[in-house]
Amino acid sequence: EGSALWGGRFSSGPDAVMAALSKSTQFDWVLAPYDIAGSRAHARVLHGAGLLTDEQLEGMLEGLGRLADDVASGAFGPAPEDEDVHTALERGLIERVGEDLGGRLRAGRSRNDQIATQLRMWLRDTLRSVVRGVAGVVDALLIQARAHPEAAMPGRTHLQHAQPVLLAHHLGAHAQALLRDVGRCRDLDRRLAYSPYGSGALAGTSLGLDPAAVAHDLGFVDAVDNSIDGTASRDLAAEGAYVLAQIAVDLSRIAEEVILWATAEFGYVTLADAWSTGSSIMPQKKNPDVAELARGKAGRLVGNLSGLMTTLKALPLAYNRDLQEDKEPLFDSAAQLAMVLPAMAGMVKTLTFHTDRLAELAPAGFTLATDLAEWLVRQGVPFRRAHAAAGACVRAAEERGVGLDELTDDELAACDPALTPDVRAVLTVAGSLASRDAHGGTAPKRVAEQLDRIFGAAIEA
Ligand code: ARG
Repeated sequence: EGSALWGGRFSSGPDAVMAALSKSTQFDWVLAPYDIAGSRAHARVLHGAGLLTDEQLEGMLEGLGRLADDVASGAFGPAPEDEDVHTALERGLIERVGEDLGGRLRAGRSRNDQIATQLRMWLRDTLRSVVRGVAGVVDALLIQARAHPEAAMPGRTHLQHAQPVLLAHHLGAHAQALLRDVGRCRDLDRRLAYSPYGSGALAGTSLGLDPAAVAHDLGFVDAVDNSIDGTASRDLAAEGAYVLAQIAVDLSRIAEEVILWATAEFGYVTLADAWSTGSSIMPQKKNPDVAELARGKAGRLVGNLSGLMTTLKALPLAYNRDLQEDKEPLFDSAAQLAMVLPAMAGMVKTLTFHTDRLAELAPAGFTLATDLAEWLVRQGVPFRRAHAAAGACVRAAEERGVGLDELTDDELAACDPALTPDVRAVLTVAGSLASRDAHGGTAPKRVAEQLDRIFGAAIEA
């Protein structure tokens, strides 16, 4: 005879090679608590439909309770011949309450609607803990931003010195991206809040079971509207893989900067000993391995996303066994982020910023040239002429090896007659920063307001 769940029409059990290919308990066991919660809810709707007596329901729930305890303690686990988590737990129930009672639970459900529901439940819980992890990194960025409210640094485009910005503004930019990721988790949860339970294998149930009752029991807003869609769709799994990959990509951009900032050439930061590693041969080394692993794992999470989407591409309706391949990439992405998020928070929180070095570099590379041009615009000079004048000042300063603020009055006037000595007021980093005071700009006042809003959003998360 074949499997206990589907062996009726089979004269032999599965070939060992086929069983090994088919088996998923090595990765789907993490769904066991959700499977048992689903079984409890399913037992209650069977009872509601008159398919279980009061006494049978009580016996079933008691057996499921013992099974849940045994799963939690490790006393019950998957056996080599169990095909998947659903099969194993049904065996566990029958071992506890007997074939006659335990065998009644399969009525009106399929592993297809079970797995679709459990994956949604798992993803909803996982996104909640991911949000907490992301909020931890936002918190670390905020701690550093608030510890250095005045520190200026060279803002870059194309990795070249561009304009001075506040370090707090730069850190806030990373926090903004992460807060959008928190929003993505929340948006996705709204779509995940519909339960496929009751969809059966694909066509729904004929047994008078109430899918909405199961849905509410399991914390969903409602049941899905279409049983084919409920069992065959995995776009929400792909969206989960995307959100996790986007978080990893956003973390990798912080990571890359920390790696650069910790070099001798940049010299912006020193890593805390607890969040860096040494070399087995070079005694002087202090390596940014946390940041490098975060950067590396972003590639892995993007791979998980693209692998999952490739599995889904062109799959006909309804359920196909290919869908079993949805779990490993998604579980892996979540497991990697669960390690990376707190490590990134720890590393960022403990960075030592060398604000003297940052301040010294802030005006280097003529980052105040735009301020000079915009000063001319405020004097009524057309921007094209102002741009050319500022360019001429840069050339003159570069030739003489001085800063823009060190050009003589004559040199300034030679670049453009409108350039009076008053322009020097904006040729300081502090003057430049303070002048960018529209909403979203890097002026200290605006940045302080921004940090307050980030703080509020992080608290809510
Ligand atoms: N383990 C399967 C999955 O992960 C669920 C079981 C459905 N199996 C089946 N033969 N219909 O998708």
